Amino acid sequence: MNATPDSEVRTTPDEDAQWVLTEHRPRVMVLFGGRSGEHAISCATAGGVLRALDPQRYDVLAVGITPTGRWVLADPDPERWAITDGQLPQVEDTASHVLLPQAVDDRDVQVLEPGELPRALGNVDVVFPLLHGPFGEDGTLQGMLELADVRYVGAGVLASAVGMDKHMMKVVLAGHGLPVGPFVVLAPGEFDRDPAAATARVEPLGLPLFVKPARAGSSLGITRVDDLDDLPAAVEAAAQHDPKIVVESGIVGREIECGVLGGHDGDRARASLPGEIIVTDARHDFYDFEAKYLDEAGVDLVCPADLPDEIVAKVQDVAIRSFEAVGCEGLARVDVFVTPDGEVVVNEINTMPGFTPFSMYPRMWQASGLEYPELVDELVRLALHRPTGLR
Ligand SMILES: Nc1ncnc2c1ncn2[C@@H]1O[C@H](COP(=O)(O)OP(=O)(O)O)[C@@H](O)[C@H]1O
Ligand SMILES: [Mg+2]
Repeated sequence: MNATPDSEVRTTPDEDAQWVLTEHRPRVMVLFGGRSGEHAISCATAGGVLRALDPQRYDVLAVGITPTGRWVLADPDPERWAITDGQLPQVEDTASHVLLPQAVDDRDVQVLEPGELPRALGNVDVVFPLLHGPFGEDGTLQGMLELADVRYVGAGVLASAVGMDKHMMKVVLAGHGLPVGPFVVLAPGEFDRDPAAATARVEPLGLPLFVKPARAGSSLGITRVDDLDDLPAAVEAAAQHDPKIVVESGIVGREIECGVLGGHDGDRARASLPGEIIVTDARHDFYDFEAKYLDEAGVDLVCPADLPDEIVAKVQDVAIRSFEAVGCEGLARVDVFVTPDGEVVVNEINTMPGFTPFSMYPRMWQASGLEYPELVDELVRLALHRPTGLR
């Protein structure tokens, strides 16, 4: 495999088409798995992206991260990473360990195999980090890629970290005048030190409450609390994911999501048509982990959402402003509640939303006229044009 000198990376749009089609297929590292509770979901997403990346246009390298954090050369066959019959895929240690370059004058990604000398794989032009949750979507991986001076898809260090932390996200959004619901943050250990005082702080939020780990995802560790007697158990469940806990007032409203794309080179990002999550099976009292991934029959992803035009416009405006407030790049999915009187309240921003072809983010773009392979392509191109540094 030929190493590709950095000078070959073209940065002007008109050179772009020629470059992709003739001289050099950009090397794309599809990176997935990882240490978070969303490992399997990340693998499923990788399956979709591996299938969508056109081998005529891209030289694809599949790299998995095991649940313990080991980077390994992975099977590029999309089928290997599908969720079938409720079976969750996992990256196994293949003993071909992948190392990023460390210095700007040495661009070789290396592979270490037992009993062998390190093998150089050459330059990687861009990483597509398909990782959800801590150690992937939270800025840590982005920091590692910045240090390695490798371009990557999606939000940078700070935006990823802010987007991951439901406390900081609300502070930043509210600071930009964006609508967030009432919440209380329980500092690490606060509840255990004085449960009565913590409960008293939470009580004015009313019922039901949503108790969440500040930094998790896929609804892991989240409990809906309808009776304050259930608060300790909910806090304990959240604390298994993060010692910092966010307690929110339950918002009554429709769950609407909106895709945001772009936001590079001073161009404003654009918003997709919104979609709606409708939990139809009463066994799920909210959009929980099972409803998200294992009980497809119990949930409808309606896309586009059936909303009046003025609400669509409002959701899109809030989504773009949230994306900008957090300083996102590339992609994000902004999830809101639309209350019965037409108010839009931001629930959260996801800097690496679910990205299988069946996930809401790609479906919203499809409904807006952008098919999955084109979406993947646009994200890779945006990332190829964005240098590292200052993020
Ligand atoms: N304040 C709230 N009011 C009503 N429902 C909520 C609230 N917060 C969360 N939920 C429900 O819980 C789900 C997961 O919460 P969310 O904050 O989106 O966490 P995650 O990052 O794990 O997706 C939401 O999709 C929604 O169904
Ligand atoms: Mg969510």
